[in-house]
Amino acid sequence: MNLLKERRKMNQKNKGFYITTPIYYVNDIPHIGHAYTTIAADILARYKRLKGEYVFFLTGTDEHGQKVERAAKQFGRSPKEHADIMVENFRELWRALNIKNDAFIRTTDEHHKKTVQEILQKLYDKGKIEKRTYSGMYCTPCERFWTDKDLIEGKCPDCGRDVERIEEENYFFLMSGYQDKLIEHIEKNPDYILPETRKNEVLSFLKNKPLGDLCISRPAQRLSWGIPLPFDRNYTTYVWFDALVNYYSALKYLAPSNIQWWPPDHHLIGKDILITHAVYWSTMLMALNLSLPRNIFAHGWWTVQGAKMSKSLGNVVNPFEIIKKYGVDAFRYFLFREVSFGVDGDFSEEALIRRINNDLANDLGNLVNRFLVMNEKYLDGKLQPQWMEEDFTMKASQLIEEINDEKLWDEFRFNILLEKIWEMIALTNNYIAQTEPWKLAKTTPDKLQNVLFNIWNSLRVITVYLYPFMPDTSHKIWNALGLNLYKFDNKMLKWYFQCKDIKTKKVEQIFPRIETKENQGIDVKIKAMEDKVEELIGIEDFMKIKLKVGKVLSAERVKGSEKLIKLIVDIGEERQIVAGIGKLYTPEELVGRFIVVLSNLKPAKLMGVESQGMLLAATGIDGTISILTLDREVDPGAPIK
Ligand code: MSP
Repeated sequence: MNLLKERRKMNQKNKGFYITTPIYYVNDIPHIGHAYTTIAADILARYKRLKGEYVFFLTGTDEHGQKVERAAKQFGRSPKEHADIMVENFRELWRALNIKNDAFIRTTDEHHKKTVQEILQKLYDKGKIEKRTYSGMYCTPCERFWTDKDLIEGKCPDCGRDVERIEEENYFFLMSGYQDKLIEHIEKNPDYILPETRKNEVLSFLKNKPLGDLCISRPAQRLSWGIPLPFDRNYTTYVWFDALVNYYSALKYLAPSNIQWWPPDHHLIGKDILITHAVYWSTMLMALNLSLPRNIFAHGWWTVQGAKMSKSLGNVVNPFEIIKKYGVDAFRYFLFREVSFGVDGDFSEEALIRRINNDLANDLGNLVNRFLVMNEKYLDGKLQPQWMEEDFTMKASQLIEEINDEKLWDEFRFNILLEKIWEMIALTNNYIAQTEPWKLAKTTPDKLQNVLFNIWNSLRVITVYLYPFMPDTSHKIWNALGLNLYKFDNKMLKWYFQCKDIKTKKVEQIFPRIETKENQGIDVKIKAMEDKVEELIGIEDFMKIKLKVGKVLSAERVKGSEKLIKLIVDIGEERQIVAGIGKLYTPEELVGRFIVVLSNLKPAKLMGVESQGMLLAATGIDGTISILTLDREVDPGAPIK
């Protein structure tokens, strides 16, 4: 049965929508990876609330174990003091990222500790936990035992560090008994582990070797910072056993009790913690006779300019800095538009700026502004609904159906959803170009009212669907469309919407373009048929532009820049031109080429090097750059008209 059908069945019994993030270790300060999972959960939670569902969205912190104990020691604090300080970084980041979680769990909460002990006792009483002498290779940083076979060149297979042989008595959860049952569950429930590649990973893990039992205790004299085992105080609980229980314990003291939350709808996690969730947690729940979550979704990892993020490389992306520089909504948008949720992505400020300039400033921002300006200019900002079916409204309604497909949301296909929202933006921009409201204003005022209403309505729906991704932006547009008196709810998710006496207001540019040192004067956008009312140019304007054929005589990189190349070009005279094409072209391949040069541009300095003109290039939406060349030889300096 697919997720959707199953959820509908549960909803009849007042089942709430329950979504979780991993609980984050408090020894670290939050980075882009933590932000990623939490924003994803926030997006889905906001969408579900909008649909009128009861939602419980849980996040929190993982505070026990050796990592925290060790970090606290370095600061001369007790582990709890350290956790109390560090937890604030996470709370603060969630505020800054506009995360609306319903609860925040800490594994040092008394209620949580009590539940962990109750569960341990229950499993012990049922004979699912046993004491054994154990000898294994232990990796202290990872807090994990490995068998000799697991090791890679004698080192920990996870972190590559040294391991030590430890022999001690410990308690084991008898996980091995659930191997077949778990394989069966995963195979019978195709949505249990998503994406598909991760499901296959877990299945091959389970099918390729016998599943062992799980060591769930640590001797207290080696690790005291943990929850004592209720049946043997000489031991503390393994941090993963303690942490996983948070998904269950939180419901006992942090969630509204009038709604049935269990089982969770989604455990959102990163790919590195798949086995702990898909295998440890699933078998723990089986042993407790609790239903399994409907879905465990493991997303990919972010690298930074191609490299793994690490403190030692100094390339850890600090979300606070990004938000301060580019705004929270641009960051939220970028993370989910740039790559499909599930696969790995690469972060760079350049890619973020490209998205801001192309998608947010150009496509969305211009649409909002053009509409508001036109509506103010021609109709004094006032509109009345006019429901007439036409090609545009039919296409728009069709797209809305596609965006409102719950399967896409339930499977976290956020980039596809955003692509579809942007299709709707493009459709509306085209509609303006085709209907030419500035002409209708002179010839057919009735039609103008209808066209402007259709644009307004399309923007209204776009704004609703943008809300889960970019809540602040959505509110801004919502108010500008004159909708602040209307309830923001699921009635808004359709093309038809009951409304009257609309009064729009002009607002500042919602996403100003970001000019960087490198894209000033270089970023040439040749956008066919730019149809902005106020921006059409006459032939006399075009005649001011002097384009000439240029032959590249020499080329070299500008020192200190990956992007800039200095060219000496013959355009009938020698000119020095600096161009931002260095990531896609080498200086060598440019020499001898015939290019198109804007010759009467005021000289400007780029990274201290003078540029006396500009070469023309097209920039694709994905950042590809292609310089304009001639398909046959023409004398350098020949005019282009
Ligand atoms: N405390 C455990 C989780 C216990 S859940 C019962 C833990 N914490 S963590 O703080 O180390 O990691 C939390 C999450 O951050 C993981 O889902 C991990 O995948 C994610 N990320 C850490 N670095 C990341 C990237 N570079 N990119 C994307 N996500 C990454 O594990």
